[in-house]
Amino acid sequence: MTSTLTGRRVVVTGAAGGIGAALAAALIDRGAEVVLADLSPEVSGTAAGLGPSAFAWIGDVSSVEGISALIEFADDRLGGIDLYFANAGIIGPAMLGENDADWDAIIDVNMRAHIRAAQALVPRWQEAGSGYFVATASAAGLLTQIGSAAYSVTKHASVGFAEWLAMTYREDGIRASVICPMGVNTNLLDAAGAGGAAQKAVTSAGTVLEPAEVAVIVLDAVEDEQFLILPHPEVLEMYRMKGSDYDRWLRGMSRYQARLEER
Ligand SMILES: NC(=O)c1ccc[n+]([C@@H]2O[C@H](COP(=O)([O-])OP(=O)(O)OC[C@H]3O[C@@H](n4cnc5c(N)ncnc54)[C@H](O)[C@@H]3O)[C@@H](O)[C@H]2O)c1
Repeated sequence: MTSTLTGRRVVVTGAAGGIGAALAAALIDRGAEVVLADLSPEVSGTAAGLGPSAFAWIGDVSSVEGISALIEFADDRLGGIDLYFANAGIIGPAMLGENDADWDAIIDVNMRAHIRAAQALVPRWQEAGSGYFVATASAAGLLTQIGSAAYSVTKHASVGFAEWLAMTYREDGIRASVICPMGVNTNLLDAAGAGGAAQKAVTSAGTVLEPAEVAVIVLDAVEDEQFLILPHPEVLEMYRMKGSDYDRWLRGMSRYQARLEER
């Protein structure tokens, strides 16, 4: 089977483990060359396990300096970047958070990292007449995240930003997609706090998928240039319910939260 991803030069952020590592492995299966970027030095082992088409870069993918160094590294190893998966993410503080520092950290990783990478990549993609930006947001970016305001808000921002990119640069040959899963079996789900409201909300709302299952769904959708990627298809119906009667949806979510708290 031929893949439109064969020979593509790809960056995946947050690729030491979880969804990012699974995306990198699936991309390599389809014949792409991949730079795996992560703060965690474990990314070196992950890349080494994927063979000669995988290259590890260790650093912060949310800072301007980090992104510029990552792009330079990818240019050097791959000779350019055709697709950029802005996948690194953190769960951030519970509830409202306590201070600006709590919010700054999650805004940087879940939102500004996407903006900063696009600012660096879009001008060159416009010149080349092609390029593809894939953001890992979350079902929380369409619906909400019980127990975490900052996660909800930054994931909404990620959906809004990807949507804007997809609309604005379509005629330049640039594509964008956004991935909006519910539960996926990764460290982040554990970090949501065993037994806490955020974790209970995710694990009781639907099936918890394995990262490898998500990666196949995502790459199939990217090959079709589909914007909204829903590894849990039921999210579409939930999103429709929210859009069709916002107040009813809010009352329902509030009752759902109360039920989770009783458990
Ligand atoms: N697991 C889920 O249930 C779920 C559901 C919806 C969306 N997501 C999203 O999927 C994405 C991947 O998360 P995951 O579930 O695989 O969790 P994960 O914790 O396994 O992976 C996230 C990776 O991002 C890296 N990272 C964090 N900040 C970074 C930074 N500043 N620079 C470089 N790397 C950084 C971490 O070191 C980690 O390896 C995230 O954006 C997350 O919000 C996850």
